[in-house]
Amino acid sequence: MKKTIALGVVGCGYWGPNLVRNFKGLPNCNLKAMCDLSEARLKHMRTLYPDVKGVTDFEHLLNGVGLDAVVVAAPVKHHYSLAKASLLAGKHTLIEKPMASSSAECEELIEIAERNGLVLMVGHTFLYSAPVRKIVEIVQAGDIGEIRYINSRRLNLGLFQKDINVAWDLAPHDISIILHILEEFPVVVNCQGNAHVTPGIEDVTNISLSFRHKRFATIQSSWLEPRKIREMTIVGTRRMIVYDDLETHEKIRIYDTRVERPPHHDTFADFHYSYHYGDSYIPYIKQEEPLKAECQHFLDCIEEGMTPLTSGRKGLELVRILEAASKSLKGQGAPVTFSESRAVPSSLERAEAGKVLPVQPVCV
Ligand SMILES: NC(=O)c1ccc[n+]([C@@H]2O[C@H](COP(=O)([O-])OP(=O)(O)OC[C@H]3O[C@@H](n4cnc5c(N)ncnc54)[C@H](O)[C@@H]3O)[C@@H](O)[C@H]2O)c1
Repeated sequence: MKKTIALGVVGCGYWGPNLVRNFKGLPNCNLKAMCDLSEARLKHMRTLYPDVKGVTDFEHLLNGVGLDAVVVAAPVKHHYSLAKASLLAGKHTLIEKPMASSSAECEELIEIAERNGLVLMVGHTFLYSAPVRKIVEIVQAGDIGEIRYINSRRLNLGLFQKDINVAWDLAPHDISIILHILEEFPVVVNCQGNAHVTPGIEDVTNISLSFRHKRFATIQSSWLEPRKIREMTIVGTRRMIVYDDLETHEKIRIYDTRVERPPHHDTFADFHYSYHYGDSYIPYIKQEEPLKAECQHFLDCIEEGMTPLTSGRKGLELVRILEAASKSLKGQGAPVTFSESRAVPSSLERAEAGKVLPVQPVCV
């Protein structure tokens, strides 16, 4: 029988209620408390969940209600301080994406969690989604050949954020998916963008990530588009995948399409690119809420002492890329190069996810 984990959520604005709803519905979770600075938000949450305690004082959430775990769903600028207090209070901690405002903050949180034998997880929600899991399965089976490039677009009107630009708000989803598919850390990051509405906060950005072996990815993020678009194209040497997250049933389509250069030709008349147009097919994908799988994974990692798929280290990798993108933005798109290419050895990473954490006494 699974142990019941006592859990609290801090931040009940737009996203926090989704976490509250999912944890509330999981059998091995006892959602004990919700915390928000806003009394109005808490009043609303109490009407939805009258049996869950609502508190404005985070200290009380940490030390007054007997929690095993805390979920941080406050704005990004508060992630570090709230998560640090949570970890120092001995609570397993799930932080929403992006993990923190700087890689130095992420490193400190990882160190505290490791020192205290606590689970530290980041909400890279899309890695728990069935379409992304399916894409990874298809890529790993070699069905699309070698990946040439990935192109991702996440566009809509709003929601404007006050503390982070659109790259820090939307691109974490794309970057987490791309790193997971390619199993590699980029060598160079470029980013261009503009702040049209709020001075100093870019509302449109284009990031490009260059990987080894001429592979690259482009990520377009915007809060200023008339249409909502959530689309990723993965171009392989043999096949291509289009992932449209707004489709209800047909989120992934695989195109048996490619272009080949003839190996040899004698005259110009002989020279023809070989365009291959084959069938396209739509794999069956079971409908399920990714956030539910993410919440269950957090509980499982606590229960079994496992390193999460989206661990603090994955959160750090992503924040390093966002930092590089911000640096490049300041330099009008100048390349920011990582000193060492940190290709993630996939088998090692998979072995890591599933490894028992060293359980140490909790230092408070
Ligand atoms: N995984 C996803 O798909 C996803 C989607 C949306 C947002 N998010 C993330 O969720 C987090 C929250 O985003 P949001 O859009 O809900 O923000 P929001 O501004 O709508 O809500 C934040 C809430 O936190 C509260 N808050 C702020 N500081 C606090 C503190 N110190 N203690 C207690 N409460 C505090 C605010 O009163 C507010 O109600 C962000 O990190 C965001 O990136 C993740």
